[in-house]
Amino acid sequence: MKTSLVTGATGQDGSYLVRKLLSEGRRVCAMLRCSSTPHTARLADLTPGVQANGSELIYVLGDLGDSASLLRILEEYRPEEVYNLAAQSDVRRSFDVPEYTGEIDALGALRLLEGIRQTGLASTTRYYQASTSELFGEVREKPQRETTPFAPRSPYAIAKLYAYWTTVNYREAYGVFACNGILFNHESPMRGENFVTRKITRGATRIRLGLQDKLRMGNLDARRDWGHAEDYVEGMYLMLQQSTPDDYILATGEEHSAREFLELVFSRLDFQLEWEGSGVNERGIDRKSGKTVVEIDPTFFRPTEVNYLCGDATKAREKLQWRARHSFDDLIDDMLRHDMALAESER
Ligand code: NAP
Ligand code: GDD
Repeated sequence: MKTSLVTGATGQDGSYLVRKLLSEGRRVCAMLRCSSTPHTARLADLTPGVQANGSELIYVLGDLGDSASLLRILEEYRPEEVYNLAAQSDVRRSFDVPEYTGEIDALGALRLLEGIRQTGLASTTRYYQASTSELFGEVREKPQRETTPFAPRSPYAIAKLYAYWTTVNYREAYGVFACNGILFNHESPMRGENFVTRKITRGATRIRLGLQDKLRMGNLDARRDWGHAEDYVEGMYLMLQQSTPDDYILATGEEHSAREFLELVFSRLDFQLEWEGSGVNERGIDRKSGKTVVEIDPTFFRPTEVNYLCGDATKAREKLQWRARHSFDDLIDDMLRHDMALAESER
């Protein structure tokens, strides 16, 4: 049985990837970090140990800031695959904690790759690095491809740039089967509530049921290429099953503004949203009730914004036969179904 180590197992992508790897019959070492209360809500329905199909789930304690814990895990389980998903992944917050973000997102990747080398796993362990479309930042071409120059615009993106090149360097210098997945935004009902899509589906469903008055939003004119996380973990898995390591973009090729996402969600929930005012004084009013349901709050603006991201995943389609199976509408449906049920349970 192959062993796969997943860092960031408790996050959005980790929760889908752990399930995918168990369905492939792997022994999955899901790395958790120390916390006073468990962060395992997204894995709550899984029981550690041997699963019905013979696969196995093991929780291991480690932190990307702590080389000793990583070395211990690598020594003990000698995984054939390492998926490095752990990160301080919030772009806005990275401006508040730039040093910590660099420590985990940049040096964390180095610690893992160097650990793979020092434990003698360089020629047997395949490594996936969770790279990001944020690398393209102030974009130099539209859509962005694997060859588009990087222009990062946040401490998060700059830390991920270091991790990207470290991954390439360990591939070239030591022959590690190391791949960068340059993933465009992907969302799901498991998305953290601080990210814009989930903030909207969670907030709008709560407003619909009278549990919340309004949403306070940042720059609604930013455009993103939003896919479904379930499709994107399939791509991560495929990258490590190839005969040679490479770097791939995963994206839908379709872009929407945060405003469009918000308007679609509110209209599905039967609001009649109309905009009044401009800039920080802009408000979204529900014509049916006359209430203000959306306000602009500059707290959510970023010192440097990424205004536009849209990816070209031709390489992944051709070489990995990867497809984004969920449409934009499917994604919204999935998130709204989940968040409406959640809001109903809170009434
Ligand atoms: P997420 O939900 O924020 O999950 C982040 C994970 O990292 C959590 O499991 C978190 O653990 C863990 N973590 C944070 N700091 C850690 C540390 N010091 N040591 C060990 N684990 C730590 O992120 P996601 O959306 O699933 O994204 C997964 C990865 O893909 C991230 O690296 C992200 O930067 C990258 N990425 C995401 C997207 C996207 O659109 N989702 C796109 C491109 C790239 P706790 O649960 O304990 O906090
Ligand atoms: N979070 C948030 N909250 N974003 C808002 C808000 C708000 O109230 N209002 C507008 N936005 C805009 C942001 O300014 C940004 O331009 C866009 O919505 C998307 O923000 P996020 O959902 O926070 O995601 P992100 O694009 O910054 O970063 C995510 O995707 C990256 C891949 O491109 C994260 O998952 C990163 O970890 C990932 O690498």
